[in-house]
Amino acid sequence: MTFDRSIKIAPSILAADFANFGAECAAVEAQGADWVHVDVMDGHFVPNITFGPATCAAIRPHIKGVMDVHLMIAPVDPYIDAFAQAGADFITAHIEAGPHIHRTLQAIRASGAKAGVALNPGTPAESVAHLLDLTDLVCVMTVNPGFGGQKFIDMSDKIKTLRQMIGDRPVHIEIDGGVDVNTAPVVAQAGADVLVAGSAVFKGGSVSDPAPYGTNIKAIREAANGVYI
Ligand code: DX5
Ligand code: ZN
Repeated sequence: MTFDRSIKIAPSILAADFANFGAECAAVEAQGADWVHVDVMDGHFVPNITFGPATCAAIRPHIKGVMDVHLMIAPVDPYIDAFAQAGADFITAHIEAGPHIHRTLQAIRASGAKAGVALNPGTPAESVAHLLDLTDLVCVMTVNPGFGGQKFIDMSDKIKTLRQMIGDRPVHIEIDGGVDVNTAPVVAQAGADVLVAGSAVFKGGSVSDPAPYGTNIKAIREAANGVYI
């Protein structure tokens, strides 16, 4: 089977109703989400705290498809097995979160999950040059991690460089931060295939009125794919 580089929309539940995660995950999937993106923050690596493996395990039965767990924590390694056991399909660690990202990616794969590596805006594409055969996903942050709803930082050059570096390897390029109908075409054209979007997906909707989620997801997908039409 060929590797799927088509555009995938991954709503970030950071913008969902925290009292209703199960229903929110089911709602965005029913409205067309490809993956569900789960942001874990520790108040140490990033200046915000969300939740940990127990919440991921509670959410898991409500997600039929891919559960994409983005760890904004340091250290990472002591918690990998807990997130794998919670049912994460992808576990993404930040390259800036410690000195041993190579070991961390090995440990994520050993846990049975797919391994992702995330790059803050200040971290160059070349930093993953020796990691590409150990990773299933490179996450390019287009905001400084910690909060939803921030302004998009254009990382097109980094995305293009990564796309060239990846070549035929089965590695996704994910974009996280400030993705909306205006920025989706920019990152898609540069070579991204997984678009995380929090505010731009959840705006205007709720679990009791989820139709706007579908409208938003469709608009982002069409904007991203429009560059090829
Ligand atoms: C930021 C998180 C993102 C965030 C994206 O630290 O990793 O996943 O939720 O939110 P928006 O789409 O609102 O920028
Ligand atoms: Zn994220």
